[in-house]
Amino acid sequence: MLRVENLSITFNEGTPDEKKALQNIQLELKPGDFVTVIGSNGAGKSTLMNMISGALFPDVGIIEINNQNVTTLKEHKRAKKIGRVFQDPMAGTSPKMTIEENLAIAYARNKTRTLKPGANKKRRALFKEELERLHLGLENRLSAKVGLLSGGERQALSLLMATFTQPDILLLDEHTAALDPSRAELITNLTGEIVKETHLTTLMVTHNMQQALDLGNRLIMMDKGQIILDIDGAKKQALTIEKLLQEFKRIRGTDMDNDRAILG
Ligand SMILES: Nc1ncnc2c1ncn2[C@@H]1O[C@H](COP(=O)(O)OP(=O)(O)O)[C@@H](O)[C@H]1O
Ligand SMILES: [Mg+2]
Repeated sequence: MLRVENLSITFNEGTPDEKKALQNIQLELKPGDFVTVIGSNGAGKSTLMNMISGALFPDVGIIEINNQNVTTLKEHKRAKKIGRVFQDPMAGTSPKMTIEENLAIAYARNKTRTLKPGANKKRRALFKEELERLHLGLENRLSAKVGLLSGGERQALSLLMATFTQPDILLLDEHTAALDPSRAELITNLTGEIVKETHLTTLMVTHNMQQALDLGNRLIMMDKGQIILDIDGAKKQALTIEKLLQEFKRIRGTDMDNDRAILG
């Protein structure tokens, strides 16, 4: 499904600001893997997402999606393969367009599902059906401008837009971090439901360890540009925050940075 081999990038090489943001990352995802990614600020999580989506290119290394080498493929050329939701609820949708227009753009990204001209009614019915899954009543507000929606509603819409065209891989980068706790929980639950129903192969970055434990079948911990822990199956099910912190200490020899990565 996704294969990342020996991926490295150094920012500002040879200057005092030099930063090895990713160092020899090896990662292979099976179809349907739902991987949660944790790690302190600056660990390289977003850089890895940016490389998989093509927003950034590596210094060395290979990225394959479904056996296709996409390492040098431009972002817009691999956009069809990738669904993405960012931390900022404003980033994934166009505020001046209506809910229906936003969905239509996401819909058009996947040409295999384009309906024949004149099929607007059918398409609208599909959008309504999809919006119903969010349980937010947005199916009754198709012609509302997205700029009028709350952050949680926009993030739910972004999630739907990123998933309903069945991309090969779904990338979520702290997509609940900007929301208040109850909205964050709603989006977390929606994420779990949607991924379960669609079996999308998913990488979800979160600073919330409990969320990383509750969702997914596999957990990766990053630190200083490296994957330092990769746990799946029954071992993942049995994990606790305490065990994760112990593991970090065992591997790194120090306590994890006392930043927002700890408990979320
Ligand atoms: N475009 C860039 N130019 C310079 N440094 C960058 C750039 N993007 C990220 N970095 C640095 O690379 C490191 C990893 O960043 P990032 O992937 O955003 O971390 P995370 O998402 O895990 O918090 C950080 O030290 C960050 O400051
Ligand atoms: Mg980040």
